[in-house]
Amino acid sequence: MPSSLLPTHVAIIMDGNGRWAQARGLERSHGHRAGAKNVHTIVSACARLGISYLTLYAFSTENWNRPKAEIGVLFSLLTDFLGRELAELERQNIRLATIGAIEDLPFAQRQALAHAIAKTKHNTAMTLTLALNYGGRSELVRAVRAIVDAGIPSASINEDVLAAHLDTAGYPDPDCVIRTSGEMRLSNYLLFQSAYSELIFSPVFWPDFGEAELKAALDEYAHRKRRFGKIEEPAG
Ligand code: FPP
Repeated sequence: MPSSLLPTHVAIIMDGNGRWAQARGLERSHGHRAGAKNVHTIVSACARLGISYLTLYAFSTENWNRPKAEIGVLFSLLTDFLGRELAELERQNIRLATIGAIEDLPFAQRQALAHAIAKTKHNTAMTLTLALNYGGRSELVRAVRAIVDAGIPSASINEDVLAAHLDTAGYPDPDCVIRTSGEMRLSNYLLFQSAYSELIFSPVFWPDFGEAELKAALDEYAHRKRRFGKIEEPAG
């Protein structure tokens, strides 16, 4: 694929772990474990393909409403992932970052994240961002609070000022948002940033969304005509 047709920033809603497990007569936790394994596959594939930013929806502000045991599984998978993958992120020159209200995560997860973020902060091939305790609406509220706290006069507030106070400050907007498992909604993901993102929906459950499915999604993106609200330029 010519690099001009490759998205700079890919955001993914990793959905369908529970249904993947149910379809096999397994507990939901098995689906999350398979999903965490697949994070490794997709991170490596994106880095290899030359994606600059990969942002994964790992835990939403709404996920706190799940049973305590399931939340515990998701958090322990996160620390396992960080422990297991740190050397690999280093090897692949990948920088780790987070978006979301990280301060409300349990101490062990905050500590593991802080360690991995510090270790990888000079890496330059790709930024892997985990959206944790993330919700687009909550992010917008936090941004508005930060703007008020900074004493910025209302007349000076514009879209750039708002963008600069979001968790994704400095990131390019996602070129595409991919959602697995057949559901077709944004579920509070990157609401401000995805204004002009191409939305790509795959019927495949996240644990089965491998490199072939990723490439098919990127191919679909490459065939989309992005207009950003403008009318088509006449040819020639
Ligand atoms: C949606 O599946 C997925 C999540 C709620 C969380 C995503 C988490 C992982 C992929 C594993 C851990 C992550 C990392 C970064 C190691 P679902 O449970 O909503 O599926 P369902 O809609 O079929 O019930």
